[in-house]
Amino acid sequence: MCGIVGILGRGPVAGSIIEALKRLEYRGYDSAGIATLENGHLARRRAAGKLKTLEACLAAEPLSGASGIGHTRWATHGRPTESNAHPHANGKVAIVHNGIIENFRELREELRGKGHKFESDTDSEVVAHLFADAMEGGLSPVDAVAASLPRLKGAFALAVLFEGEDDLLIGARDGAPLVVGFGNGERAGEVYLGSDALALAPFTDEFAYLEDGDFVILSRHGVEFRDTHNQRVERHHMRSPVSALLVDKGNYRHFMAKEIHEQPEVVARTLAHYLDMSAGTVALPFALPADAAQLPRLTIAACGTAYIAGLVARYWFERFARLPVDIEVASEFRYREPPMERGGLTLFISQSGETADTLACLRYAKAHDQKILSVVNVPTSTMARESDIAALTLAGPEIGVASTKAFTCQLALLACLALAFGRARGVIDAAQEAKYVAELMAVPGLMAEAMKREPRIEALARDLARARDVLYLGRGTSYPLALEGALKLKEISYIHAEGYAAGELKHGPIALVDNDLPVIILAPHDNVFDKTLSNMQEVAARGGRLILITDASVPGDFSGEVEAITMPKMAPNFSAIVYAVPVQMIAYHTAIFMGKDADQPRNLAKSVTVE
Ligand code: AGP
Repeated sequence: MCGIVGILGRGPVAGSIIEALKRLEYRGYDSAGIATLENGHLARRRAAGKLKTLEACLAAEPLSGASGIGHTRWATHGRPTESNAHPHANGKVAIVHNGIIENFRELREELRGKGHKFESDTDSEVVAHLFADAMEGGLSPVDAVAASLPRLKGAFALAVLFEGEDDLLIGARDGAPLVVGFGNGERAGEVYLGSDALALAPFTDEFAYLEDGDFVILSRHGVEFRDTHNQRVERHHMRSPVSALLVDKGNYRHFMAKEIHEQPEVVARTLAHYLDMSAGTVALPFALPADAAQLPRLTIAACGTAYIAGLVARYWFERFARLPVDIEVASEFRYREPPMERGGLTLFISQSGETADTLACLRYAKAHDQKILSVVNVPTSTMARESDIAALTLAGPEIGVASTKAFTCQLALLACLALAFGRARGVIDAAQEAKYVAELMAVPGLMAEAMKREPRIEALARDLARARDVLYLGRGTSYPLALEGALKLKEISYIHAEGYAAGELKHGPIALVDNDLPVIILAPHDNVFDKTLSNMQEVAARGGRLILITDASVPGDFSGEVEAITMPKMAPNFSAIVYAVPVQMIAYHTAIFMGKDADQPRNLAKSVTVE
């Protein structure tokens, strides 16, 4: 995750950009840079290392200019060097970027073929050349951006300056946050772009958030938002005092909604921490605490949604590493007191790192000579401190009690671990690793694409809000996701829901099916899709209300009976990460229609630190 800033000021902006970047250093700080327009000409200063290195560089070679952009980097593609630091420029255009451009290689080859020269290893630099190329074709800066954005695949936020355009700053967002700030008082007429409102708080308390697919044209005389179809749209202005920004819901009603929408960005950041995205390989930042090649089995223990993440990961450890997995809810594991092979490896998964049952299991395992690997979201948590290795999910603070972004970051990290085990055990070769890593790298963009189904999901949730019971069905990794869907719905709407293996339907639950029972079927187009379809027929034959979430085409004989949520087409291996989005949104919108408190549901706590 990186931090980006843009300012059209009334006077020199370099100092203000540095001030804003200091507020964004939490998003990454392995290199930084700034570009301004001095008499219409782009000038840059960039530096590897923390922001203070850039500040020293500016002290030695100041930048003037009342238009500028800045960036603090958390490297995804390319090492944290000066040449890889943003802004990236090519004479006509300077850009700063947060996120991942998945299709950067093919765009780079196309642009090289047109004579473009690249100076960095990054995906981001492609964007500057793409915009410049469109302008060389005769388009204006605004039209060049509008024409080029649809070609970018992935989750990203951008700020762009143009040579000779002192009163123009363009921002774009698809899957990573971006907010516009409006100067007031003595700063009236100034306009700003930032990765979050907190970065702009020193300059204004008036903001408007871009929505996914938007781009925005800023000048000192006005701001114009455009949607994904290049049509002018209005975006809600809000005033937010600095104090409220410290725990900022942004332009969402609830933290849960914000955290659902943060997922493309934080999943990308988590993947970037465990993959070498340039080389297309797994690159764990630690040595596995046991010899993966010799391990007879892996034990997993966790609670709630974290346990469900473990259930999904079991499929991946078995598929990619041929590693047998024992998994148990922590509250059962600790009292079952299972025998444990000396020197074995036990994996604990927890957002908070403080869950009492999971901690008790960790201590039991440690007392039985296990190596401890934990997947946690809070680096200072008890679980992190008591583990041999704490693998961090980089979801950022999760405020909503119902876990969303922590869950998908857990899945992303566990997928990387499964591939690393697979390589260490010689089960997958380099080519297979590259294939699976490419599939993982596509996940953030697919999640951003899946977000666009929200209006359809909201409409469906209106009906679900009247249900007494709901049944979720899935096969393969969609089975634990069915459990998660049911858990999400239960915990925030209080509607009773159950998740079941679709193949188990006829062994009992089918007795529940009538025309009052919504049955939500999670069915990515995988090797068991046809089997799941036959379960769907069993439900349809008994008048069940079918909701199908799939990236396949709905068979003609169902078209009248199924309410479908069509997902982006994807390789099915990691579909559980992407299909978590509609599952979470269904629960959220149903709860909202019912007037429930999505962030703080009754009877629950964010971290269950007691038995
Ligand atoms: C998830 O939506 C729930 N809030 C709950 O099941 C949670 O996952 C469980 O309590 C485990 O918490 P942890 O991840 O902090 O250990």
